[in-house]
Amino acid sequence: MPSRRQFITHAATGTAALVAGSALMGLFSRAHAQNAAPIMPQSTQTSGGKWRPPYRFGQGGAPLGGGSMLEVSDAEVLEILDNAWDAGMRYYDTSPWYGLGLSERRFGYSLHRQPRDSYILSTKIGRILTPADAPPETQWANPDSFNYTYDYSASATRRSIEDSLQRLGIPSIDVVFVHDLTPENLKGEYEQHMQEAIKGAMPELTKMREEGIIKAWGMGVNSLPPILRANEAADPDLHLAACQYTLMDHTESLQKLFPDCDKRGISIVVGSPLNNGFLCGRDRYNYSGTIPDGFKEKRARMQQIAKAHDTDLRTAALQFCAAPSTVSSVIPGARKAHQPAENVKSMSVRIPADFWAELKAEKLIDEAAPTPA
Ligand SMILES: NC(=O)c1ccc[n+]([C@@H]2O[C@H](COP(=O)([O-])OP(=O)(O)OC[C@H]3O[C@@H](n4cnc5c(N)ncnc54)[C@H](OP(=O)(O)O)[C@@H]3O)[C@@H](O)[C@H]2O)c1
Repeated sequence: MPSRRQFITHAATGTAALVAGSALMGLFSRAHAQNAAPIMPQSTQTSGGKWRPPYRFGQGGAPLGGGSMLEVSDAEVLEILDNAWDAGMRYYDTSPWYGLGLSERRFGYSLHRQPRDSYILSTKIGRILTPADAPPETQWANPDSFNYTYDYSASATRRSIEDSLQRLGIPSIDVVFVHDLTPENLKGEYEQHMQEAIKGAMPELTKMREEGIIKAWGMGVNSLPPILRANEAADPDLHLAACQYTLMDHTESLQKLFPDCDKRGISIVVGSPLNNGFLCGRDRYNYSGTIPDGFKEKRARMQQIAKAHDTDLRTAALQFCAAPSTVSSVIPGARKAHQPAENVKSMSVRIPADFWAELKAEKLIDEAAPTPA
């Protein structure tokens, strides 16, 4: 009986001539995935009784669909996801949007061999994919050949989840996020789609939770107002707040997002905790193509302070995101095989309290921001 590694190796052999030898050598030389203990387990309920992920750290899936127009091969993605598993990550987040189905297919190919009750999987609704001769222009490098239309109705929500199950090849999804329902993304059609979701997707997801089809739902968005709208209009369990709570930018979440969620017992999954790589030194900030004025200088100063305290900014950024009690999980993305294990390791490194005190003294982070103990 071939091991999982051997199977991947054989599958990859057919295209070996096309793929960089070094990446494949990594697959050839590795033994079975070790069954590492899950990292950062926690209770699945907040004090308000809402479900939260049982793991405080997970793997984001946007780069694995070719995000930021950076291509990543099937073999590389399998290695990244295997390494995340080996490092003990048991929470995985993907979306139909990431690579127009590509990220979901890849997650499914990696995860379908694991026992279904040994990990948590979130995906998203809001876009229906339909086959196309060629994909439309998007932010994805080499996406699948599908078109997409926004639909936040009840029937589209069910259909999207069923489509995701087929792409994933996995019989259940734990958490569903209502994706990119924001004025920045939908522009003039935002209000119409918000109304559609309030009448459609949101009650339908509550119904699916009550039916036991999913465990929890919430918004998966890059800005705050849609989360506050959903909190008022429906009964979400948790939200995926991306670009909203990072070392670089967090005051609005501290002042508005966390208090509103706390009073309802709703938790926050932090997406883009590294500002899409900016906090690892990349020349890109989130997903807009522009870096806000002064942010490179701010990053440089924080890097200096980190170095002086024998730590690094990526480690500090990940721990910072996990510190607030409202945060139930942090899900950095990865595009290279070494990154998941490094990120897991960062969560157990001790950072001196003086580092955080210095960031506050220089007003580089908010005085009110919780910092890791
Ligand atoms: N609206 C939404 O629902 C929404 C929006 C955004 C994100 N999300 C979720 O949140 C997840 C995380 O966001 P993200 O992936 O966009 O951004 P991120 O986690 O802020 O940054 C990921 C990038 O950081 C770099 N990186 C990660 N680990 C590293 C390491 N150990 N060493 C050096 N560099 C490292 C990599 O850059 P390189 O690629 O350059 O190597 C990687 O692609 C997403 O994958 C997605 O699941 C959801």
